[in-house]
Amino acid sequence: MKTYEFDGQKYKAASFHQKEWGKSLISKIPLQGNEIILDLGCGDGHLTEQLALLVPNGKVLGIDASMGMIQTAQEICKDNLTFVRMDINDLHFSNAFHIIFSNAALHWVKDHRRLLQNAYTALKTGGILLWDFGSQGNCSNFLTVIQEKITVETYRRYFEDFEMPWFMPAKSHYEELIAPIGYSAFTISEVNRDRYFPTSEDLIKWIDQPCIVPFIERIPDIVKDKFRQEVINAMLKRTQQPDGTCFETFRRLQVYARK
Ligand SMILES: C[S@@+](CC[C@H](N)C(=O)[O-])C[C@H]1O[C@@H](n2cnc3c(N)ncnc32)[C@H](O)[C@@H]1O
Repeated sequence: MKTYEFDGQKYKAASFHQKEWGKSLISKIPLQGNEIILDLGCGDGHLTEQLALLVPNGKVLGIDASMGMIQTAQEICKDNLTFVRMDINDLHFSNAFHIIFSNAALHWVKDHRRLLQNAYTALKTGGILLWDFGSQGNCSNFLTVIQEKITVETYRRYFEDFEMPWFMPAKSHYEELIAPIGYSAFTISEVNRDRYFPTSEDLIKWIDQPCIVPFIERIPDIVKDKFRQEVINAMLKRTQQPDGTCFETFRRLQVYARK
């Protein structure tokens, strides 16, 4: 499966809103302090570290496919915390975790039928998964801008066999995917987290890490800067408000399931 390389340090500096959402998700987990937890798509490891602090007698494993992210995460040292470079599509654990957590990552995984099955196998009986990821309607401005940009004459040739990197399902579709797997209970909730980036610089940091990454890697070096600037200009034109803030839609699914 195709995965992408990110700059962990830049992501760390640009991911304030992902961290806020993640902390709110963590606050929903009923923890005793001795759980074994898996964090899927742990990124720079900040949220994984928060989980490790909450389970001093447990263990936490963070996995991510990006070497840049894992190297940044590995700068965090805790006895009960491990980071491993691994593709979520290759989950191979059995009866290993009390909790499988994931924030702002699983819209990068295309095959959720397989993911939900592998997560079920990886959970202990009674274990739970708690995931928050992009759903239908997410990042609608960026999607419109990038779709337009990769189909114009200048850039079309670089995207001939390109598939959009995200899976952002509607709630009803996800319910159909999870129902046959065998979880004893599940709840899928829609969450609206539309937001205004305080400044254009904040919007640009978010475009650079992570949004534009799957696209810019296809553009020859000589025109990368031009492509990036055109995307930024189109996003500013579309989203910037009279007070300088920039609006984007952030629509998520929150998935809770018990084995
Ligand atoms: C937006 S970051 C979220 C990081 C962190 N969970 C947070 O909330 O700050 C998405 C992460 O998912 C990871 N990711 C995407 N697809 C993946 C895959 N197939 N396997 C493992 N990690 C993946 C990316 O490398 C990236 O670090």
